[in-house]
Amino acid sequence: MSQATAPVGQAQVIDGKAFAAGLRSRIAEGVKSLQANHGVTPGLAVVLVGEDPASQVYVRNKGKQTVEVGKKSVKHELPAETEQEELLELVESLNQDPSIHGILVQLPLPKQIDAEAVINAIDPAKDVDGFHVVNAGLLATGQSAMVPCTPLGSLMMLKHHLGDLSGANAVVVGRSNIVGKPMAQLLLKESCTVTIAHSRTRDLPAVCRGADILVAAVGRPEMVRGDWIKPGATVIDVGINRLEPSEPGGKGRLVGDVAYDEAVAVAGAITPVPGGVGPMTIACLLANTLTAAHRSLGLPDPQL
Ligand code: GUN
Repeated sequence: MSQATAPVGQAQVIDGKAFAAGLRSRIAEGVKSLQANHGVTPGLAVVLVGEDPASQVYVRNKGKQTVEVGKKSVKHELPAETEQEELLELVESLNQDPSIHGILVQLPLPKQIDAEAVINAIDPAKDVDGFHVVNAGLLATGQSAMVPCTPLGSLMMLKHHLGDLSGANAVVVGRSNIVGKPMAQLLLKESCTVTIAHSRTRDLPAVCRGADILVAAVGRPEMVRGDWIKPGATVIDVGINRLEPSEPGGKGRLVGDVAYDEAVAVAGAITPVPGGVGPMTIACLLANTLTAAHRSLGLPDPQL
């Protein structure tokens, strides 16, 4: 692998915002060429159940960026009391709709709805979140899958920064189905030596110190400290945590799972929060929707 060799003392900051902007412009080109050559406009349907304010913001941003890259955006907003059966009927109608290539049901869902049942009702070919059990299985067996957006965006930034990842020691902190597990699968596919660490891992700081590539996806503000990081390592911070205004240094500030000020003095490269992994997640949703449209036409995946 090409080593992260930035001088110790000031990590290179990996600019996810700029990277996402570049990716969106390549997606927009891909959309234009699909329209010109095949008369098809990729369509993304986003389903929001209830009125969670954070979800409303996410869904609005997804819709806006979908339109900006030239795609069709459809939004379905259902009341918080919606029964599972009704949501499943909507998913089925979107599965059958040929103008829709990607379906995203925003999580979390209200408690009367079994999220797993809804996700697994989505046609795997339209599952642009990559959460369907078929896509998880395809990824785990190294086959062509829809890959969850946050790990996909993280991998793109890692490859852009480091080039070949093979042989690197990668530690993923967090074992969620949405980030930790698929991230580990992707790194394994790149021939990294992968460790998945979690809340029960013994001596987590020592495990992290063995990482050439450290991915923090635990959802605990600033848990990974500077002295957990191997000098020169590449650090991907997936966490987006809003501190309470009452917390010391809080003021409603957004922080990652990594203590940035400490880490930046040790790491070779690091993604900031905000402006790192976050912007890449929506850009990868748009990438997955374009990929889904390509596959629906029997075309090779777009090279983004
Ligand atoms: N809620 C927060 N992030 C996501 C996401 O990436 N996909 C879905 N479906 N729901 C979310």
